[in-house]
Amino acid sequence: MEIIIQPTPAAATSVAARLLAGLIRKKPAAVLGLATGSTPLLLYRELIALQLNWRKLTTFNLDEYVGLDPAHPASYHSFMEENLFRHVNIAKKNVHIPDGMTRDVPKFCARYEKKIRAVGGVDLQVLGIGTVGHIGFNEPTSSLASRTRIKTLTAQTRRDNAKFFGQEEAVPYHVITMGIGTIMDARHCLLLAFGKKKARALAAALEGPISAMNPASVLQWHPKVTVCVDEEAASELSLRDYYRWAYDHKPGWQKI
Ligand code: GLP
Repeated sequence: MEIIIQPTPAAATSVAARLLAGLIRKKPAAVLGLATGSTPLLLYRELIALQLNWRKLTTFNLDEYVGLDPAHPASYHSFMEENLFRHVNIAKKNVHIPDGMTRDVPKFCARYEKKIRAVGGVDLQVLGIGTVGHIGFNEPTSSLASRTRIKTLTAQTRRDNAKFFGQEEAVPYHVITMGIGTIMDARHCLLLAFGKKKARALAAALEGPISAMNPASVLQWHPKVTVCVDEEAASELSLRDYYRWAYDHKPGWQKI
């Protein structure tokens, strides 16, 4: 696991954008796993500005709310269209986001998994972390081997996401999310976290025990993880000086 601490969210995002841009240039038909929420907003803005060629890329989003029409302004379909897809030349047929309106959730989820496998798996999975330690919408006590399925949100996550709905009562209770096992199958995971609010969950995930109580901690078991964080999110990491030192002394060939 490589932990990269930068002074600001913008600086940490730039490192992440370089990583993604490098992959897209090297592998124009790459498969990207994408996240929503406030965390990747800057990343998508930077990627748009880089004017990369998205024509052959395939994307799979982590999650979507159950029962929310794709046209709803707080749906992750709307989020992705607004903040990324309408600004790049991606082929619509290559975009995959869980269908929160599906009438058969288990069948849809099995098909989503099958589609990921059919394109050869995810090359790089972008992740944020919830204040409860979730990745995607895998709330605490999610099976570390879980696949795409329905989950019930915790009260904390519904409160955290109320900002996107205007009011807490409007936040759905259920979501479809890639499982932790699904995420772990990605060849490379890129975790972003910004702000003081994330410091505790991040420290528990990176330096605490691997536990379903903090689903992001499973990433300690993944062979290739890059973590890009700002100083505030890193503030509770006990080895933060070591991570800075390691990044500053990276061999030239390893530089991002
Ligand atoms: C959301 C998403 C996650 C995201 C996390 C953090 O609700 N389902 O994929 O990483 O919770 O959200 P934010 O980036 O808004 O802090």
